[in-house]
Amino acid sequence: MDHTFVMVKPDGVARGLVGEVVSRLERRGLRISALRMVLPDEDLASRHYSAHAKKPFYRDLVSFITSGPVVAMVVSGDSAVDVVRGLVGATDPKGSPPGTIRGDLAIDIGRNVVHASDSAASAASEIALWFGEGEIIEHVTAAQPYLYER
Ligand code: RTP
Ligand code: MG
Repeated sequence: MDHTFVMVKPDGVARGLVGEVVSRLERRGLRISALRMVLPDEDLASRHYSAHAKKPFYRDLVSFITSGPVVAMVVSGDSAVDVVRGLVGATDPKGSPPGTIRGDLAIDIGRNVVHASDSAASAASEIALWFGEGEIIEHVTAAQPYLYER
């Protein structure tokens, strides 16, 4: 099974969309392997978004992500990184098709409800940044043979 890191950002939490996001992930057949509410501090936020440190939107991004609680998750499934990015949609919700989380639930690029890792390498580093090893619960449910042929 592949793992990815997903976060409901402060706008998603404030708008009561945590259940909606988790539900969409679960309905697709993905598994939640870890889930925790976090109030990110400056240090965690800047580590998480270090790849964007030189971008013009970086300060706003870090300031927004530290403005309120987020819900951090490890999500598991076959090709989890790509499957979740597909569910999430495009960075700018205005260009994200209906049926995607951002295309259905958001309108502004700076308030796009969710974060999801963009590669296996970033998934591994983001999971290690947000969770300790003991917090990730690998489990197989009785639905497994109904989700996967093999
Ligand atoms: P994320 O990391 O949050 O999953 O989003 P993403 O991969 O689709 O987009 P990324 O390029 O990694 O950008 C991270 C977040 O920064 C904000 N952003 N603002 N004003 C802008 O041009 C701009 N570009 C990006 C977005 O909130 C984006 O999710
Ligand atoms: Mg990104």
